Amino acid sequence: MTMWQIKKSVVEPDEAGPGASSPSAEQRAAGKALARADWLIDLKVQIHRQLIERINLAMLEKLPRERIATEISQIVGDLLEQDRTALNRAERETLVADVLDELLGLGPLEPLLKDESVTDILVNGHDVVFVERRGLLERVATRFQDEKHLLRIIQKIVSAVGRRVDESSPFVDARLADGSRVNAIVAPLAIDGSLLSIRKFSKIPISMANMISYGSIPAKVAEVLQAIVEARLNVIISGGTGSGKTTLLNALSSFIDERERIVTIEDSAELQLQQDHVARLETRPANIEGRGEVTQRDLVKNALRMRPDRIILGECRSGEAFDMLQAMNTGHDGSMTTVHANTPRDALSRIEQMIGMSGIDISPRSARAQIASAINVVIQIGRLSDGRRKLLSLSELTGMEGDTITMQEIFRFHITGRNEAGQVQGQFEAAGIRPKFATNLQTQGIHLDPRLFDPRADLEPT
Ligand SMILES: Nc1ncnc2c1ncn2[C@@H]1O[C@H](COP(=O)(O)OP(=O)(O)OP(=O)(O)O)[C@@H](O)[C@H]1O
Ligand SMILES: [Mg+2]
Repeated sequence: MTMWQIKKSVVEPDEAGPGASSPSAEQRAAGKALARADWLIDLKVQIHRQLIERINLAMLEKLPRERIATEISQIVGDLLEQDRTALNRAERETLVADVLDELLGLGPLEPLLKDESVTDILVNGHDVVFVERRGLLERVATRFQDEKHLLRIIQKIVSAVGRRVDESSPFVDARLADGSRVNAIVAPLAIDGSLLSIRKFSKIPISMANMISYGSIPAKVAEVLQAIVEARLNVIISGGTGSGKTTLLNALSSFIDERERIVTIEDSAELQLQQDHVARLETRPANIEGRGEVTQRDLVKNALRMRPDRIILGECRSGEAFDMLQAMNTGHDGSMTTVHANTPRDALSRIEQMIGMSGIDISPRSARAQIASAINVVIQIGRLSDGRRKLLSLSELTGMEGDTITMQEIFRFHITGRNEAGQVQGQFEAAGIRPKFATNLQTQGIHLDPRLFDPRADLEPT
């Protein structure tokens, strides 16, 4: 399509005169916007092409951004001159920025990556993009020219970590330069176009104080959490996908004493501990020949030889559960990890299954006994249907009764309904049980007000 034809199609919807079946004003406006978007995409391709003709690619990499921007501005000027199309200044600047993003960055993803309010970016094929803002998913107008364009951007992301996606390795985990976590999966596994999921890295992590102010955790429960960490209880954070497990783990870690040596183990480094003495470890996938893999399990074992005061495992998902429990049981108390599960009970059965995955020959009963003696507290969190994250339950393990692990709930978020705006209604309450760990805390000189556990207590005084 030549510029002239494109321009014509932009003008056409506007020129359609009134008639019996004429589109509504909104339809016309939408049609016009779409046609203009198509035209802009085409214009970008042309600018791109001319730019490559003028400057060779190898040079481009070395030129400063401003210099390329000037060059692009000139090309844009020439092109628009030929075509006599009017672009206002803002449109022109956006166009130059888009071309720059394409050349030097990740194209259409750049504005979303820069937008601080966006926490997740989900690309479902070249023309469907969703983002998460304030806990809620929304579709955005961002799109790629075509599937090939999207694939090119994906290759750009994964090549930065020395990998590539193709038919023989159709899915890959990667990380952006700023630490954002990326997963890409392409054809033939992705049926309707490549899928890209980005969990953005927030430069300023959500702190416990933030969580209190967002209403995720009442201040009084946060006090108990602080005591739990200071008293070196072993903690499991349980929750579904994107419920805020990693975020809470990070916030809890802020209660750890500066003087302790912390070893963190993750598949993809996300934790941002504030202490000075943190030894960070990250797993490594196998290379193309299938060699060199280092698993979380290997790292947990290695961590034990690193004289850690505490081990923080980003997410426990397989055989490393066994080694983690061993560590908790043998003097590395105060260790923490997260598990993907929907209830505290469910978290324990997941861990039991994971012990099975370690290949260690151990009876279900002894596995449970291991769990019961290693873990002190399970914190269940969840993402409510309105997008808010809440601490749903805080439970403590109290031992075994026969073959069953005994557990008691100390605090819960009791959901009562929804208001007209669709917001989940409910309140935090104490179950009325003074936790067994309160005694343990007391012996360490950490005193918790017994009134905290009174079911009549208002945990969220306003
Ligand atoms: N209490 C909270 N209030 C608001 N947003 C939150 C809260 N906790 C986490 N988030 C946001 O929710 C998103 C998911 O958080 P996080 O990565 O901690 O979840 P996760 O459970 O570890 O997810 P995954 O299952 O993918 O590992 C992040 O963008 C984070 O900023
Ligand atoms: Mg996580």
